[in-house]
Amino acid sequence: MDEKLKMVNFLGQYLAASRSEGQIFDMALMISQNVMGFDHAIIRMLEKDLLITRSHIGFPRDAADIVIKLGEGITGEVAKTGQAIVSEDTQKDPRFLKGVDGCRSELCVPLTYNKATIGVINLESEKPGFFTKQDKSVMETLASQMAAAMETKRLRDELMRAEKLSVVGQMASSILHDIRNDIHTLNISADLLKSRELNPRLVKKVSEMVKGSGENIYGLIEDIFEFVKTGESRLYKKGVNLSGLLRSVLEETKSGTPDNVRVNLSSDESIEIEVDRRRFKRALLNLVSNGVEAMPEGGELTISASVKGGRVVIEIGDTGVGIENWHIEKIWEPLFTHGKKRGTGLGMAIVKKIVEDHGWKIGVESHIGKGTTFTITQARGTP
Ligand SMILES: Nc1ncnc2c1ncn2[C@@H]1O[C@H](COP(=O)(O)OP(=O)(O)O)[C@@H](O)[C@H]1O
Ligand SMILES: [Mg+2]
Repeated sequence: MDEKLKMVNFLGQYLAASRSEGQIFDMALMISQNVMGFDHAIIRMLEKDLLITRSHIGFPRDAADIVIKLGEGITGEVAKTGQAIVSEDTQKDPRFLKGVDGCRSELCVPLTYNKATIGVINLESEKPGFFTKQDKSVMETLASQMAAAMETKRLRDELMRAEKLSVVGQMASSILHDIRNDIHTLNISADLLKSRELNPRLVKKVSEMVKGSGENIYGLIEDIFEFVKTGESRLYKKGVNLSGLLRSVLEETKSGTPDNVRVNLSSDESIEIEVDRRRFKRALLNLVSNGVEAMPEGGELTISASVKGGRVVIEIGDTGVGIENWHIEKIWEPLFTHGKKRGTGLGMAIVKKIVEDHGWKIGVESHIGKGTTFTITQARGTP
C-alpha cells in the first residue's frame, strides 16, 4: 500500500477520539500536513450555499476570512459537484480564485456525509504540480474518516443529551411524586384540625404528621441540592464532636421513625472529627433513614462510633430486609431504588460522594432477612 495512505489510515483513527468538531478539523489538518507536506491548508464547511472557514494552517487572516459561494472557483466547484480536483498549475487554471499569494498548485476534496457534500478540505502548494493523483485518493480517504468522526461525535452528543434528559426526567418525576404525598398528608392534617374535636392526643398526632411531612420535603430539597452540586466538592471542614453530631441526626429522624424501631447509640464522647458538618450530617441522615426504611416490620437500628487502629469508625446497622447480592453494587448508583414505594435513589449516591470527598471510605455488609451494616472509616492521617 502507498506509504501516505498507510499513514492516513493509521492517524485517521485518532480523529474518532476527538471531543469537538474543531478538534476534528485541527487534527485532520495536522495529519494532512504530516503526510502530504504543503504550504497552506484550509477546511471550509457549507452553510446554506456559502463555504465558511472553520480551520486553517498557513493562511493569512484576510485570505482565510474570504467566504466562497457554492460553484465559485475550485473550492466552490468541488463543493457543488462533490468531485475532488487537482489543479497542477493554478496560474493556468481559469477556475482558480486568488487567495494566498504564491499558490501554484492545489488539491481540493469534498467532505461528504450521506452522499451530500458538507464541506471541503483544500491544500495548496507554492510549487506547481505538487499534488499527484495518488495524493487525491489519500485525501479522499482522510475526508471520509473526518466525516465519520463528525458523525460519531454528533451521535455521541445526542446520546449524552438523551441520557441527561432521562436522568433529569426520572429524578423530577420521583421527587414530585414524593412531594405530592407529603402535600397530601399536610392537607389531611389541616382537615383533621378543622373538623374534628381537638383532643390533645389527636393534636399531638397531627402535629407529628405535619412535622414529618415538612422534614421529608426539606430532606428531599437538601438531597436535590446535594445531587445537583455533585461537580462542586468544596468542603467547609471544621472540628466536630461526633457524638453530638450523631445525636442531632437521631433527633432529626425521630419523627420519621416508627415506634417499633428501637434505636441504640453508642459513641465515645471524646471523638472529634474534621468534617464539613452540614454535608457529613446529610450522609448520616440518609444512612439512618435507609436503615429505618429497611425495617417495615420493626427492628433495631444500631449506631456506633469508635476508634480502631487510630481511625474513627462509624457503623450504622439495621435488622431489616437486607440487600440482595445482585444489587449490592448498584445501591451507590444515582436513581437506583429497590423495594420501596417512595424512593428517589439519590441517597446512597450522595452518601458515597460525601464520604469520599472527605477522603473517608464506606463499605457495606448485608444478609437477606437479617440486616445491613454500613461502615464509614476515616482516612489515615486526617484528624
Ligand atoms: N439499610 C438498607 N437495607 C436494605 N436496603 C438498602 C439499605 N440502604 C439502601 N438500600 C437499598 O439501596 C437502594 C438505594 O438507596 P438510596 O440511594 O438511598 O435510594 P432510596 O432510599 O431513595 O431508594 C434502596 O432503594 C434499597 O434497595
Ligand atoms: Mg434512601
